Amino acid sequence: MAESGDPTSDTINALMAEDRVFPPPDSFKNDALVTGTFLYDEASQDDEAFWARQAAELVDWDTEWDTILDWQLPDAKWFVGGTLNVAHNCLDRHVAAGRGDKVAIHWEGEPGDTRTITYAELLEEVCRFANALKGLGVEAGDRINIYLPMIPEAAVAMLACARIGAVHSVVFGGFSSQSLADRINDAEAKVLITADGGYRRGAVFPLKPAADEAIAETPSIEHVVVVQRGGNDVDMVDGRDHWYHELIGGASSECPAEPFDAEHLLFLLYTSGTTGRPKGIMHTTGGYLTHVTYTHKYVFDLHPETDVYWCTADVGWITGHSYIVYGPLSNGATQVMYEGVPNYPGNDRFWEIVAKYGVTIFYTAPTAIRTFMKWGDAEPAKHDLSSLRVLGTVGEPINPEAWMWYHEHIGGGRCPIVDTWWQTETGGMMISPLPGATTTKPGSATFPLPGVRAEIVDDDANRIDVGGGYLTLTRPWPGMLRGIWGDPQRFRDTYWSRFPDRYFAGDGAKLDDDGYLWLLGRVDDVMNVSGHRISTTEVESALVSHPSVAEAAVVGATDDTTGQAIFAYVILRGDSDADEDVLRAHVAEEIGAIAKPKRIFLTPDLPKTRSGKIMRRLLRDVAEGRNIGDTTTLADASIVDELQARATSSDD
Ligand code: WTA
Repeated sequence: MAESGDPTSDTINALMAEDRVFPPPDSFKNDALVTGTFLYDEASQDDEAFWARQAAELVDWDTEWDTILDWQLPDAKWFVGGTLNVAHNCLDRHVAAGRGDKVAIHWEGEPGDTRTITYAELLEEVCRFANALKGLGVEAGDRINIYLPMIPEAAVAMLACARIGAVHSVVFGGFSSQSLADRINDAEAKVLITADGGYRRGAVFPLKPAADEAIAETPSIEHVVVVQRGGNDVDMVDGRDHWYHELIGGASSECPAEPFDAEHLLFLLYTSGTTGRPKGIMHTTGGYLTHVTYTHKYVFDLHPETDVYWCTADVGWITGHSYIVYGPLSNGATQVMYEGVPNYPGNDRFWEIVAKYGVTIFYTAPTAIRTFMKWGDAEPAKHDLSSLRVLGTVGEPINPEAWMWYHEHIGGGRCPIVDTWWQTETGGMMISPLPGATTTKPGSATFPLPGVRAEIVDDDANRIDVGGGYLTLTRPWPGMLRGIWGDPQRFRDTYWSRFPDRYFAGDGAKLDDDGYLWLLGRVDDVMNVSGHRISTTEVESALVSHPSVAEAAVVGATDDTTGQAIFAYVILRGDSDADEDVLRAHVAEEIGAIAKPKRIFLTPDLPKTRSGKIMRRLLRDVAEGRNIGDTTTLADASIVDELQARATSSDD
């Protein structure tokens, strides 16, 4: 266990003196899908039977399963023997039920251009593109990389893969060409789907040039499909590169949705772990779809006939996979998809969109909420937000002040807030209120959802009923990861070895006297910056890959807006003159702009224990401006004084 983040500390306990409670309003309960405890009661009697009922009610199967769960830790198989097609569930079944004209996606481009896409239109485009992929030689099981902006084609590409059983691996458009190349190579992807560029903060950012740089190093890529969006000039390589619009123009709109095994690999999504190498998290078909459909319906109290749902995540993250693409579309929801940033052209862009489309369910990240708080109450007040009825958060702990601001200034004091805890690995939400059933406390994710079993344990795996410890999951769940691509041992070591018979999530958490769960952040070397997971080791590796850097240590320090900010301490090689800016740019090139350290301190030495281990906690203390206590175990205590002096002088 890393030394960071002690979840049992007194300071954290002191922070948790939150006693405001918010029961679901009666007016909300009148129409809510779930009030009271019946779902919890049913699930606690027999969780497998509970999940089987969800799978049968919420998902269309071509063949019924014969075994609900085959669990041989750490390997779970759900709905064994069942077959289904995910794209059929997200599209065909709604069209067949007469809802083809219902809007699936209200897409809003950043410059203000829009597209309205019905379920029938989405189905047709998915079929065409699925045929186009087949035409490029794609078969079930092949890996396809997707590197796109927030445009409808991202959803089309994912669903087209699902339709023909190809495995998508989406890489967030903000990642660098190097990160893209690493992910393509790890998955040995055959096709890359990208765009010329996309809009961000009023300008086009070019994606194709980054993709070109990546594929210079990826021998497995045979074809590149390019969506036209930015209108920027791009190089097209004859025979290898194809325009998306030309491919679908020439493809048939008939493409049967073949059934696949419930355990067929649906997608890989790479996420940061505690080493420098991202892991390809594997998600399969039947369990995953059941989990995201169920949680999207009940956690948001979805009424698909009347609700307009909006999740502000990017499709490049798990939230975009589960709660922009698969959950909402499987439920036949109408949703808003937005391409750009929240402050273009003004700081009220999100609220303008909410009012324009009459958004009823809004799902965003605490970092965004804290940023809106900074921009001031006047921004949301400019718009009519009275359509909203449920608010959600995800990605990091939400502090009670931000929760209260969200409640008052966005929710008008009337909307239940669902603070949803989950991970790339869990596939779907795990701990969250149900808006018509749960009395919430600002800052608490409340209770495990029906069907989910979570426990807090201490260092020795003893269960804790009140107080802080490590969050573990004690039963398999349908959406759980099925492994790490190409590395079963890492799967076992990372998640299943710290505590016997338990999945260890990497998070600290606390149970209060009323049994409410409070998430306390990561306890490993994973940082959470604006809700994005970045590993300290990954940033360290990026820094030491620069020829000027001899050694680097990276820590996540508390930040008022982004949750954590990246601080790096770097020892340069003797004759080098690289400065902070050069090194920050280098990290952006190696990983992506999201991983750029907020500050880099050049230092002649790093604090280490006598055994040579870098004292990260001490570096975090320096970064957060705390006084350093006992440094007697340090090899050279004077370095801490020097680092502190530098940190203070650079604040001026
Ligand atoms: C953190 C995002 C507190 C947590 C869906 C977890 C949260 C990591 C919450 C997963 C929440 C996510 N409260 N912390 N409601 N939601 N986290 O894989 O540390 O990008 O382990 O998945 O985000 O991040 P990931």
